[in-house]
Amino acid sequence: MDTEAQKRAAGEAAIEFVQDNMIVGVGTGSTVRHFIAALGKIRQRIDGAVSSSEQSSALLRAAGIQVLDPNAVGEIPLYVDGADECDPRRCLIKGGGAALTREKILAAVAKKFVCIVDAHKCVEVLGKFPLPIEVIPMARSHVAREIQHRGGTPVWRQGCTTDNGNWILDVHGLHIGDPLQLESDWNQITGVVTVGLFARRPADVVLVGDGRRF
Ligand code: A5P
Repeated sequence: MDTEAQKRAAGEAAIEFVQDNMIVGVGTGSTVRHFIAALGKIRQRIDGAVSSSEQSSALLRAAGIQVLDPNAVGEIPLYVDGADECDPRRCLIKGGGAALTREKILAAVAKKFVCIVDAHKCVEVLGKFPLPIEVIPMARSHVAREIQHRGGTPVWRQGCTTDNGNWILDVHGLHIGDPLQLESDWNQITGVVTVGLFARRPADVVLVGDGRRF
């Protein structure tokens, strides 16, 4: 199966976790697009969605699904999102689409986080995909220096402003043996909004487009 077919298969498989009258948390990216398309077909069964990006909000509305404010909803039963890399413990690198902060908020308020990926995303050790970090713009060079001290090679993602008005550093050259430690440490750097490492709150279930799940 090619990559696009796997993204579709994973996105459609996540529908089995949607129950009647749920408010569904929806992530961002090319795999989630397939989930949104499938969700649109059963939109009468759900009470609406909360969204991790302006891009996904637009897709949800186009599919006839009401987009709600997370502050008005509280805890959500289900969050479905893609990832850029996934390890066997379901720790993730996210943020390739620059939506990492809102994604991390929805993962934090979700009872169940279902991650949908194609097989290329599954790795033994995270870090080949450059780790995205959302930073406050005036702290960009400070954060970059701090990351260099910690052995990473940060690259400013040109032309990218997040939905929150911030910038992204993509950190190359990592081999993340202890994702929990790295997430906790780097989140403490002043000026960091979010590290795109989901280890403190990993996925609960990973659906791979080739039929595997773990
Ligand atoms: C968005 O910032 C990312 O975290 C996405 O979840 C991720 O990039 C999704 O990848 P795909 O576009 O391959 O689904």
